[in-house]
Amino acid sequence: MKQTYIWVAFTLLLILNIVLMMRLSHANKRIDSMANSRNEAPHKGGNHERHNEEEEIEVAVVMSHIQRHTNKLFFAGKNANWPLASFYVHELEESMEEIEDGNIEDDGINISKLMKAMGIPALEGLEDAIKAEDTQAFNTAYQQLVTNCNACHQSTNHPYIVIINPTTPALDNQQF
Ligand code: HEC
Repeated sequence: MKQTYIWVAFTLLLILNIVLMMRLSHANKRIDSMANSRNEAPHKGGNHERHNEEEEIEVAVVMSHIQRHTNKLFFAGKNANWPLASFYVHELEESMEEIEDGNIEDDGINISKLMKAMGIPALEGLEDAIKAEDTQAFNTAYQQLVTNCNACHQSTNHPYIVIINPTTPALDNQQF
């Protein structure tokens, strides 16, 4: 009699175990599919781990990073904070290279080629000025960068996207 109870209890535990395992595997599958759908989203922010090289780069998303870093670069330069200015030039370089390497064409206009011609070269003057800790050279190079931003917006049929010099930092919780 006692043995029968033990067997019943054992069998029940076994069934419970199987049910739990099935639920767990179901939950895992859901998490996987959620993660996949997130990777498929056209989000190219700071996530450099591309699962699929064919995935399209969202130029506007990269541009909003470029805009933010250009804003911060302005205030770093204004305060002669050269290490910080140098950091933002590198961030800009990374974003621009992402577009340059992405082989992006829009309405028959090769954005990647334009970036190679107008984006990266505009950073060189900034790098030199920062290395020399030369405020005047920095200002000139910064204005050249902004000129190139706007020239490319003109060339890519976005003449209404006009970059100007900021008066206040886009974010107020950082020291420049
Ligand atoms: C190689 C060409 C090119 C250069 C150089 C370039 N842009 Fe753009 N930018 C574009 C294109 C193309 C778009 C439109 C993207 C779209 O249609 O989704 C754009 C869109 C934008 C936008 C609109 C997106 C938003 O979030 O409001 C901003 C802001 C912007 N660029 C800022 C800049 C800044 C700042 C620079 C210079 C530091 C710059 N861009 C340099 C091509 C360029």
